[in-house]
Amino acid sequence: MWRSSAQRLRPERGAGGKRAGGAPPGESERGWGPASSNKSRRSRPNGLVPLAICLLLAAGCRQDMHDQPKYRGLRPSVFFADGASARPRVEGTVARGTLQEDEAFFTGKVSKVVVTELPLAVDQQLLDRGQERFNIFCSPCHGRTGAGRGMVVERGYRQPPSFQTDRLRQADPGYFFDVITNGFGVMPDYKAQVAPRDRWAIVAYIRALQLSQHAAPSDIRGGDPTNVPPPPPGGGASAPEKN
Ligand code: HEC
Repeated sequence: MWRSSAQRLRPERGAGGKRAGGAPPGESERGWGPASSNKSRRSRPNGLVPLAICLLLAAGCRQDMHDQPKYRGLRPSVFFADGASARPRVEGTVARGTLQEDEAFFTGKVSKVVVTELPLAVDQQLLDRGQERFNIFCSPCHGRTGAGRGMVVERGYRQPPSFQTDRLRQADPGYFFDVITNGFGVMPDYKAQVAPRDRWAIVAYIRALQLSQHAAPSDIRGGDPTNVPPPPPGGGASAPEKN
């Protein structure tokens, strides 16, 4: 039935003149005539129903997604008492991968007291990383040996104390970590630029720098201390550095 009504609809659509002039012979054989023409006019809506349903369905799908209740970012809300649609983080939750449970590692302190040991194993790789990070982030002011005469200081910035002073040689690793994390006096903090692990790498390297200027012959591992030439008069090892 569907097929025959579609066939009947086709010639009607834009061919008024054709019909007035008489149907072609083939068509009249298939039943074109005044009677069947009336019938086709009556059945016309039948052909449009599926189309209309499709359109309605398609429009319905779009509307569902478009009109769902939601807040756009930072829009106000009358639903929550504080009037804000953005909700604070539920206390005690952390984003995946950002749990900072190890207080010593992430703050350099335990119960507000700086740690006296590095909270990670020190190996050559860590020292190399520390040297690289120190030269990038600290040497512009502190100099490559930590004596405090970096290029920025040469240009007029306040001179930091040398890392070779007794006070800083005796300072705990956690203290250095804290200074990098929170800054100190006019020195800005490097929390955003230097990740916690890299901060510890820098601290380990500073310890190496300090040792390098205060090493005794017996500190040379595997070597024969008696083979170490004595420092030249005037103290070559602790000679003032240029940058
Ligand atoms: C922009 C220059 C600058 C940079 C870069 C810089 N510092 Fe400093 N730092 C200073 C100055 C200046 C002081 C002294 C601050 C004061 O006395 O007000 C200082 C002080 C310190 C102190 C000594 C705190 C004390 O007790 O006297 C330490 C430790 C230190 N910096 C470590 C670092 C490390 C590690 C880095 C690299 C991550 C670094 N600084 C990068 C300028 C800098």
